[in-house]
Formats: sequence, C-alpha cells, structure tokens
Amino acid sequence: MTEDLLRIDGLHVGFRSGDEMRSVVRGVDLRIAPGEVVGLVGESGSGKSMTALAIMRLLPPGGAVTSGRISFRGRDLRECSASELNKLRGSQIGMIFQDPLTALNPAITIGRQLQDAIRAHEPLGHKAALVRAEELLALVGIPYPRQRLLAYPHELSGGMRQRVMIALAVSCNPALLIADEPTTALDVTVQAQVMDLLDRIRTEFGVAILFISHNLELVAEICTRVTVMYAGRVVETGDVFDMFATPRHPYTRQLLRCIPRLDGARGAMPTIPGLPPRIGALPPGCPFAPRCDIAEPRCSAEEPPINWHDKQMAVCYRAGVVVPT
Ligand SMILES: Nc1ncnc2c1ncn2[C@@H]1O[C@H](COP(=O)(O)OP(=O)(O)O)[C@@H](O)[C@H]1O
Ligand SMILES: [Mg+2]
Repeated sequence: MTEDLLRIDGLHVGFRSGDEMRSVVRGVDLRIAPGEVVGLVGESGSGKSMTALAIMRLLPPGGAVTSGRISFRGRDLRECSASELNKLRGSQIGMIFQDPLTALNPAITIGRQLQDAIRAHEPLGHKAALVRAEELLALVGIPYPRQRLLAYPHELSGGMRQRVMIALAVSCNPALLIADEPTTALDVTVQAQVMDLLDRIRTEFGVAILFISHNLELVAEICTRVTVMYAGRVVETGDVFDMFATPRHPYTRQLLRCIPRLDGARGAMPTIPGLPPRIGALPPGCPFAPRCDIAEPRCSAEEPPINWHDKQMAVCYRAGVVVPT
C-alpha cells in the first residue's frame, strides 16, 4: 500500500463564541495518496473550507484546531513551527481559492508575484525566475505570456486570474494542491477550461489534489475518491464510481439527485428540502435526520454507526438500504 501524502485523523475545528467553543468540523478523517485527486463535497457551511484552512494553519481569527492529527508525508503538521509551516506552504503544498483577487496582490504585477514565489523557494536569479514565470504562464494557457508578466491582477479576467493563481500554486512543484471551490466564481465555459487545466496540471506535475466543491458533478470529472461532509462531519467516503453507482448515505443520494440531467429533462433544478442545522444548534443523533427521506426514529436519537461496504464508508443506520437514484 502506498504511504499517505496527507492524512487527517479525527480533526475538530472550533470557533470561540463567548465562553464556549462551537465545533464547525467534528471528527473529519481524510487520506490522500501521492498523485491522487480526492474530492471534498457538501453544501455551503458544511466545514470544507475550515478543514482545508486547518491543514495549512490558516484558520480565520477565533478559529482553532481543538483536536485531531494532520500529517503530511508522515510529519505532524500541528507540531511544526510557524516558519516550518510557512516553508511547506508554497513549496510542498499549494493552494487555490474561489476568489483569486483575495490571494493576489493588487499592487504588484503578476510577473513579479510569480518571480517572488519562485525565488522564495528556489535559489534562482532575477532573470532565471522571470523566464520561469513566463514558462508557467504559458503552461497554464495564458496567451502572450511575456506581455502578461507586466499586467496587474485587475487587468485580467476572472478566468485568467484563476490561471495565474494555479501558476503560482504550482510554481514550486508542490506535492499537494488544495483547490477550494476554484471554479465557483467562473461562468460555465471558463469553469470547464479551468477544470481541464487542473487535470493537465495533475498529469504533468503528478501533483495530488484535494478538490473542494459543492458540485458533485465537477468532483466526478476530476476525482477518483470522494468524501462527503455534512454539518462538520464526514457522512460518506469512497471511490467516485461506487458512490455514483450506489450512494450509501441518504445525503449523498439527495446531492446526486440535484445534478442536472444530461437527457435534457426540463423543470426546476431539484434541491434538498430543508436547511442544514445551525452550528451550535445541532440535533441529537444524525445531523441529517431532519431532512432525510428514509430516517427512522433511532436516527434522531442516537449517533449513527459507521458502515463499510468494501471500500465505501457511510455513517448511517440505513446505509445498507439500496434505493434507486
Ligand atoms: N470566521 C468565522 N467565525 C465563526 N464561524 C465561522 C467562521 N468562518 C466559518 N465559520 C463557520 O464554520 C462553518 C463551516 O464553514 P466552511 O468551512 O466555510 O463551510 P464550507 O466551506 O463547507 O462552505 C460554517 O457554519 C460557518 O458559519
Ligand atoms: Mg468553502
């Protein structure tokens, strides 16, 4: 068995609210092998971004990892010093976000930002770094890369900015790329181009990707394994193919039903009725029970068990029930 590149065990993340800690990530386990593309899905607010930010120690003020282990190449990231972690970010772990404008410096040309990123981790001269920056822009499909080196972020379209972010993220050849909703802000055509680019980056660099999205369809395009989160918990995990063929958790099943059909069936796009529970007001038992179409009384009373079906895991009393999707 290959050694995990990233391994998260029992991760809990909380935010201080008055005297109490409110948990927003509640016992997440996740594994990524070298070169593997793993999807993390769930509705907005399910804790996907906080999981990603916890890995990088970039949680917003007030947020903290309260327990669990995060190891990268066998090293416990929670034990690393701030400077060690800083070194790891960029050189070993790259990150791209939904909105590249928040990550790019508006006052510095993209050429300079790329040069700085490259030189922070590699002993290259000014000129050599600039050449490399131009190569990277060409690699991510930016036309006229030499001219673009002189552009400022606001002079580029959203899709082009996301390409620059990807170039920055891979500039030091990281082993892991964390992509948090990288195409959510883009229109459908540009979204498809960025997905193609990510797939190409994966093949060319052999980089592992943690692909975070609320969109299961996108996840299926690029990932080999998926983890589904609900209200801060992992509810299901498994190979993409198995999960699409036989979703075991009712939440996954409902998410799949929300994917628009290719056969052109008309009508409003289905959504899952109801809303996720508010953090701090979690119901007893399974957090999805109030919205679940096959819940039983015990689902609202006691924590559901972990069920394994081969390599597929679902945290549900009714995981064995196979319902046609
Ligand atoms: N800065 C913050 N302070 C307090 N709570 C936060 C903060 N950021 C996020 N949260 C809470 O953490 C939960 C998980 O958020 P997040 O990980 O961003 O969800 P997702 O990425 O799945 O949409 C949400 O309920 C959100 O309200
Ligand atoms: Mg998010």
